[in-house]
Parts: sequence; C-alpha cells; structure tokens
Amino acid sequence: MSTLEIRDLHVSVNTESGPKEILKGVDLTIRSGEVHAIMGPNGSGKSTLAYSIAGHPKYQVTSGTVTMDGEDLLAMSVDERARAGLFLAMQYPVEVPGVSVANFLRTAKTAIDGEAPKLRTWVKDVNGAMDRVQMDREFANRSVNEGFSGGEKKRHEVVQLELLNPRFAILDETDSGLDIDALRIVSEGVNRFSAQGDRGVLLITHYTRILRYIKPDFVHVFVNGRVAEQGGQELAERLEAEGYDKYVRAANAAATV
Ligand SMILES: Nc1ncnc2c1ncn2[C@@H]1O[C@H](COP(=O)(O)OP(=O)(O)OP(=O)(O)O)[C@@H](O)[C@H]1O
Ligand SMILES: [Mg+2]
Repeated sequence: MSTLEIRDLHVSVNTESGPKEILKGVDLTIRSGEVHAIMGPNGSGKSTLAYSIAGHPKYQVTSGTVTMDGEDLLAMSVDERARAGLFLAMQYPVEVPGVSVANFLRTAKTAIDGEAPKLRTWVKDVNGAMDRVQMDREFANRSVNEGFSGGEKKRHEVVQLELLNPRFAILDETDSGLDIDALRIVSEGVNRFSAQGDRGVLLITHYTRILRYIKPDFVHVFVNGRVAEQGGQELAERLEAEGYDKYVRAANAAATV
C-alpha cells in the first residue's frame, strides 16, 4: 500500500510583474485504493496542482512537501517521478508530431519498467487497451495526439494509464470534451485501473456527470489555491446544486483580512 502526501504546498509562477502565488497551502493525502475528486472554479489552481506534483518546470514550489511513501517527490526529476509510479493525464494533452503512438507507448513503457516489454505480449496489450476504449487500432500509426479530436486524446490518455499502470494517477479533466458513450468508456477505464485495489486516483473534474460512473471516496472543493472543503460523494451533489459561491466568498473574505 502506498501514500501520496501533499503538505502545505505553495507554488508560484513567474509573470512579467514577478512571481505570482497560485497554490497557497494545499494539504491532501491519497492512499492506494482511494479515488479522490477535486472540483473547483476555473483558475483556482487545480491544473497547477497536477503539474506541480508531476514536476513541470514552469511551477516553482516555494514551500511545502510532496512525498510518496515518505520519498521526496519534489527532489526527483520528472522521469524519476514517473518511474516512482506517478502518472499525469494532462487537461490539454500535448501533440508530438513525428512520434507514432506505438513508438511513444513502447518507449514510455520501457523507460518506466527499466526493460523493453516482450514484443509478442506487448502488441496484444496495446491492441487490447485500444479496443477497450474503442480507439481504432489505426491510431497506433498516427503521431501522438496530432489532429486527434478532444475525445480521442482523452481515450489515448486512458490507454496510457492502462499500459503504464502507475501507482497514482492524476487525471486532469479526463472527462472534458467527451460524448456520452466516451464518458462511460473512459470512466470504465479509470474504474478498471482503480479496481486493482492498490492504486490511487486523483480526478480533477468540473462535472458530477463523471462521478455517476466513477465513485469517489473523497471529494475536495478547491478554491483560490487550496482545499476549502472535503467530503464524500454528497459534497459533489451539493456543489452541483449550490455552486462555488459560498466557498469563493469565504476565500475572498479570508484573503482581505
Ligand atoms: N504565467 C502566468 N501568469 C499569470 N497567471 C498565471 C500564469 N500561469 C498560470 N496563471 C494563473 O494561475 C491560475 C491557476 O490556473 P490553473 O490552470 O491551475 O487553474 P484550473 O483550476 O486548472 O482552472 P480550469 O478549471 O479552468 O482548468 C489561473 O488564474 C491562471 O491564469
Ligand atoms: Mg485546469
């Protein structure tokens, strides 16, 4: 069993007028076997949190800690974090012209496992993963994400999730841009991953829709760079009905004291 622990995390980005603090003391603990959903208004820092954990160089951690089973993730390079078992599905997956999906997946798998996957089983695994998200096998020959529709990019993220099988998956709006069938297919992929029982999921989303398919153990409301409220599935329902107004006003009031 593993634990991903974020303690009092402060993160800034460089802007033309100097560093700007985006994350203002995030506390979050995810244990293997758990599904956590983060919901919050646009610009509250959800993607910043995802990128900071994964090690994007644009984000400067000014204080706080991120550990996996006590190991300091912040001291690791991006690929070390991936090898330690961290996976990030980006809100806007990057296009990589000239690198085929097949090549990309095999290279990533080799880098993470420290050895190349056996060719015979690997092809079967890739085909199976693509079939399960109803992604045409032809995609294997296309450049990574290039010209993919929004929904195709998200399905491709789930293929990666299945093949790389990390210990902790951070999924940033993996439900955005999906049609009704794709939402179910992608959700089932995430559920298969988490059904292994010893994996952790951090799901960033705007919609309670996906939470009909993926049942979170914990829901966190993220406002103004920190977790403002935590609860169970019922909190997501309440947010849907009431919106974020209450939390935004409380955060603003706290900021002006
Ligand atoms: N270079 C920058 N200069 C100024 N502000 C920045 C810069 N980079 C990021 N930000 C700000 O950081 C804040 C947090 O952005 P982030 O993408 O983490 O939000 P989010 O919660 O993921 O929003 P969304 O729900 O729209 O995806 C935003 O207000 C954004 O404008
Ligand atoms: Mg975002």
